[in-house]
Amino acid sequence: MTQPLQPSPAIAAFEQRAFGLFIHFGLYSQAGQGEWYRHHHQIPAQRYATLMDSFTAADFDAEVIARTAAAAGMRYACLTTRHHDGFSLYDTRGLNSFDAVHSPAGRDLVAEFVTACRNHDLGVFLYHTTLDWWHPDFDGDWPAYQRYLRDSVDILLSHYGPVDGLWFDGNWARRDRDWEEDALYDLIRQRQPDCLIINNSSHGHHGEAGHPQCDVVTFEQGRPFARRQVERYRAGEMCETMNSHWGTGAHDLSHKSPADIITRLVSCRRYRANLLLNIGPEAQGAMPGLEAAVLAQVGRWIKICPPAVYQAVPTQLRCGGDDFVLQDGSTYYYFCHNVPIHGNRHLLQGRPGDGPQGIIGALPQVRRISWVDNDEELTFSQDGDICAFQATPFAYGSQLIVRIARLET
Ligand code: GLC
Repeated sequence: MTQPLQPSPAIAAFEQRAFGLFIHFGLYSQAGQGEWYRHHHQIPAQRYATLMDSFTAADFDAEVIARTAAAAGMRYACLTTRHHDGFSLYDTRGLNSFDAVHSPAGRDLVAEFVTACRNHDLGVFLYHTTLDWWHPDFDGDWPAYQRYLRDSVDILLSHYGPVDGLWFDGNWARRDRDWEEDALYDLIRQRQPDCLIINNSSHGHHGEAGHPQCDVVTFEQGRPFARRQVERYRAGEMCETMNSHWGTGAHDLSHKSPADIITRLVSCRRYRANLLLNIGPEAQGAMPGLEAAVLAQVGRWIKICPPAVYQAVPTQLRCGGDDFVLQDGSTYYYFCHNVPIHGNRHLLQGRPGDGPQGIIGALPQVRRISWVDNDEELTFSQDGDICAFQATPFAYGSQLIVRIARLET
């Protein structure tokens, strides 16, 4: 039997970051209609560029964003350094003047972001568009556009210290074109060999490996699944909006609840994938209040048992319903869904998460099973390949969405 492929150290480190903050911010934020604002309204380039005259980014405080992310248990952040509208949040150092330093903001927001990430131990990930609605060479001199793209990326890798990952997006818009990926990725490996390469495969192409140099496969707004690793090991990442837009939507009330986000995070970790959860800062960069509050709640859940979230990896063990088991050395974690609250059991719908729960598969001798949140010991039996334990309800006053039981072996 061939050995399963193992992640490189950089990919393994990425997998243990587990949860990241995606930040979509740009000129479009002022319109409050998402990052596709220009495209959806077919706004001519010159008129769109007038948004630059009012772009102060006065409320963009990278420190607040990074602090909020770290408190939510996130271990990395990814900022849109340039989106499809072609406007750069970094100093393009002479490539053009369609950037934040030439706007009233007069600052390099990428530099601020990188510093704030380092202050809060967050991995630095930089989103960079490949699709460009602004640059004349994009639908003109294609090789020249490719050089422009590489020169842009070179700036990001040469002036901001170590970058943990570059997150590309847009190749899906022109599948018939030669994106010169070899040249782009060679440049990245040359400048910063440990920088991960991600290139969003987009909807309908979830989990596709893409170019051999890509380190991570993506599941944009999807559900990660078990991946067959070929040639080399790749990590997985699902990116998701907190409401229904990436760039802020001024009239979008469709926010996900903390419960929804925790459940999605868990469904990613089930397959060793990360969750990259987005916020769209307001017109001039303010951290949106509701999003910050939701993130804080998610952070409370993660803090109950960090090793189960960051370190633990999938097993072959089988359970009922959505439940599953992850492993961290000799400790196993059972992720139990739909646990009722003591005294409120009549509210439960679907497969109950209390009562007997079974695990099928080869598990070492179990010594003790307990809930991670209150250390309550749970009775269990183990017979060959079957282990069963008695899940108890939450104490009245508590509801932790997905409850984790620790199995010590
Ligand atoms: C899609 C959107 C793009 C967004 C990205 C985030 O590709 O078109 O605007 O930045 O998703 O994953």
